[in-house]
Amino acid sequence: MMSDRRPIGVFDSGVGGLTVVRALRRALPGEDIIYLGDTARVPYGTKSPRTVERYSLACLRFLLDRNVRLALVACNTASANALPALEEASPVPVIGAVVPGAESAVAASRGHIGVIGTLATVRSGAYEAAIAALAPDSKVSTLACSLLVPLAEEGWTEGEVAEAVAQRYLTELFEADPDIDTLVLGCTHYPLLAGVLTRVAARVAGREIAVVDSASAMARAATLALGDDHSTAPSAQLRCFVTDATRLDVLGPRFLGEDPGAPELVDL
Ligand code: DGL
Repeated sequence: MMSDRRPIGVFDSGVGGLTVVRALRRALPGEDIIYLGDTARVPYGTKSPRTVERYSLACLRFLLDRNVRLALVACNTASANALPALEEASPVPVIGAVVPGAESAVAASRGHIGVIGTLATVRSGAYEAAIAALAPDSKVSTLACSLLVPLAEEGWTEGEVAEAVAQRYLTELFEADPDIDTLVLGCTHYPLLAGVLTRVAARVAGREIAVVDSASAMARAATLALGDDHSTAPSAQLRCFVTDATRLDVLGPRFLGEDPGAPELVDL
């Protein structure tokens, strides 16, 4: 049987969603991927739900015009604020970041979950709702960690500045619930800071803390969604589009773990 060779589409507010592409390429190496980074309008994390929804719908339309057979909303902020609108507008399945992230958290946790993300993700209450639907007795504490996105983009993912910022945020999070046993990295950029966040969380809590990220959870969700219908082609193509010329040459390899190649500039 011929497998469906239409690509998988992934969009994000910027380059951070390449962490999802990285996990996706590892899980489904034969799949062609179209990536759109809305670099002209990043960040989404400081914007209102209405604006995030409007921008996200434009990104989805771009991917649908390129005939994708599955759309991944890599951006946690877009997933948290726009998923119902995206699902309604899409003829193909849409996978957001929040539900897979919540599923991973519930699987890892004994009932006390901490979630960190952008301001717009935290304000949406989406993680609380997704976790409550899966494990109604779980206690969920959330915190907006606005400095972590620029820190990851600057490449300051280790060292004294990263340690100090992580210490400050995680101290506040664990004050809200000292019994947190699982930390969700609810933002595209945070997998780059997983080392420091894992270490500092353990130090603040005085015990090991399970750390889960939505990027690898989304790759698992995409694999499940495709089922047997995934390509085993020996070579797969990644095409990157951006809405503004960026430092993709510097940031791309950092987030993707390989050279994403020259992006194509588009206007949505
Ligand atoms: N991609 C965003 C997220 O995962 C982070 C960057 C932004 O604020 O746009 O929430």
